[in-house]
Amino acid sequence: MITIDGPSGAGKTTVSKRLAEVLGMVRLDTGAMYRACALAAERAGVPWDDAARLGELARGMELSFRNAGGARRVFLGDEDVTESIRTPGMSMGASAVSAHGPVREALVAKQREMGRDGGVVLEGRDTGTVVFPDAEAKFFLDAAAAVRALRRHSETGSSGGQTFEEVFRDVLRRDAHDSTRRHSPLKIADGAIYIDSTTLSVDEVVEAMRRRIHGHAG
Ligand code: DC
Repeated sequence: MITIDGPSGAGKTTVSKRLAEVLGMVRLDTGAMYRACALAAERAGVPWDDAARLGELARGMELSFRNAGGARRVFLGDEDVTESIRTPGMSMGASAVSAHGPVREALVAKQREMGRDGGVVLEGRDTGTVVFPDAEAKFFLDAAAAVRALRRHSETGSSGGQTFEEVFRDVLRRDAHDSTRRHSPLKIADGAIYIDSTTLSVDEVVEAMRRRIHGHAG
């Protein structure tokens, strides 16, 4: 079990995909689950601040990850929502719904179930602190906020036509929200290895992680 936590734009998605590939493991994007919950809530007319109803929705949500055309797609029931959950609106929605205890309880239970057999690279905000605190390798991936905003802005699709300033503002807002919330705030897990990717390439980060993982395995 490997966990990678860190703020938005630190490179968790790219790095966890590559790491899962080279190690022959499965990747679990926990952020996608909070995004899917925000989308399901919007569709059901449940406000993003209604903790009790959101918890119920998260518990009953038919969420799955399926492989299609070599990519991992996110499904709500039979609908492929991979693209619909990646808008700037759903980024803010995910940050809002993820602050509620009942939502976290429901999704953490699903994540533990999905990762039960091991061989999984999890990425998120609390995968090493709460979901699998006993994981064999835990990483906290970070980068300077301006660099994270720049990465988000240059990713086709994920900035939704926003200017760099707007993306930067959203990154700072989400950082503040995700790390100051009461339930499972973003923080470095006990025993986690801290990697600052500000000046590192994807290959360099993956290599640094591989060295630590193999070092751990002896
Ligand atoms: O990694 P991401 O941008 O897809 O995550 C979207 C939001 O979901 C993020 O603002 C915080 C929340 N999240 C969380 O609270 N816990 C996780 N394990 C993963 C994501």
